[in-house]
Amino acid sequence: MAFPTETVYGLGADAANPAAVARIFAVKGRPRSHPVIVHLAEATAIKGWAAEVPADGWALAEAFWPGPLTLILPRADRVPDAVTGGAGTVGLRVPAQPLALELLEAFGGGVAAPSANRFGRVSPTTAAHVRADLGADVDLVLDGGPCAVGVESTIVDLSRGVPRVLRLGGLSVDALSEVLGHPIDVRVATGGNALGGTALTGSGPAGSGRDAAVATPAPGTLLSHYAPEARVEVLAAGAVAGRAATLLGEGRRVGILAPRRIEGLPTGVDALPPAGGAAAYAKCLYQRLREADRRGLDVLLAVPPPETGIGAAVADRLRRAAAAA
Ligand code: TXA
Ligand code: MG
Repeated sequence: MAFPTETVYGLGADAANPAAVARIFAVKGRPRSHPVIVHLAEATAIKGWAAEVPADGWALAEAFWPGPLTLILPRADRVPDAVTGGAGTVGLRVPAQPLALELLEAFGGGVAAPSANRFGRVSPTTAAHVRADLGADVDLVLDGGPCAVGVESTIVDLSRGVPRVLRLGGLSVDALSEVLGHPIDVRVATGGNALGGTALTGSGPAGSGRDAAVATPAPGTLLSHYAPEARVEVLAAGAVAGRAATLLGEGRRVGILAPRRIEGLPTGVDALPPAGGAAAYAKCLYQRLREADRRGLDVLLAVPPPETGIGAAVADRLRRAAAAA
């Protein structure tokens, strides 16, 4: 069953039932080793899923749940391997979406749910996207309208002592640092793809202190994720007209995705509606990537929003889409 969250639609199953969780992997075409997030109705329920919760975990849960934050914690013994991919940790989150919370409260247990798309494809932000992607393979799609946030949750790993951001998302790094009372380490993958290795680099929120780390990459951090069929190129607004002219000259169908209308474009360019500021951009991002394919574009020239707040997650997704070409 698919259901809406404030970030993207999820494909849910009883997290305590390994056979039900296995079915999610089959439908998504997702490798078994990749863990899924367990969705809960309220923060107090994390005790049933995590072996221990550090003070930072309670502080973040209290500040941001329900909301677009996933906490990685040491797993409780009862958590099936199907959920964790065999890892010693489990990802937990309380979503901020009325239908999702109603579902979770009525169910009473944890709902394991990855994004409701085929592995490696653009995440769904409407019920229609889920249908288009998964078709008859999903028995029921709860329709909660378009997702309010539009990009996936921010993932924070609390299982290694020092909190770390593993995936940029709907909750900003600054908001996390403010509650923790110190800058939080950011370690999102910046290289590699679904088939090859993935390099992880770390940096403080201000871009300080880069250093390499070795870890199993989360699938949401693989560079080849979030890609439409169209090739995505990320560039500054000032470079768009020139690049578009070159591509048009090569006979390509060229589209534009940018925060604002860009003036002086060559004729023949297919500009998508302006995406707006960071929050509006995040909300429409995946819909626009799908629209690029619906229009049959060969290349989508994408101008990211300023990389502050949720804008950092939007820029991150665009770069991953671009790297998949
Ligand atoms: O916003 C979201 O998080 C959405 C909605 C449906 O809640 N879910 C989502 O799920 O994006 P998915 O499966 O597409 O991405 C979950 C990410 C993956 O990158 C996965 O590797 C990571 O969470 N993850 C889950 N459990 C983990 C764990 N124990 N350790 C490290 N990463 C984990
Ligand atoms: Mg996903």
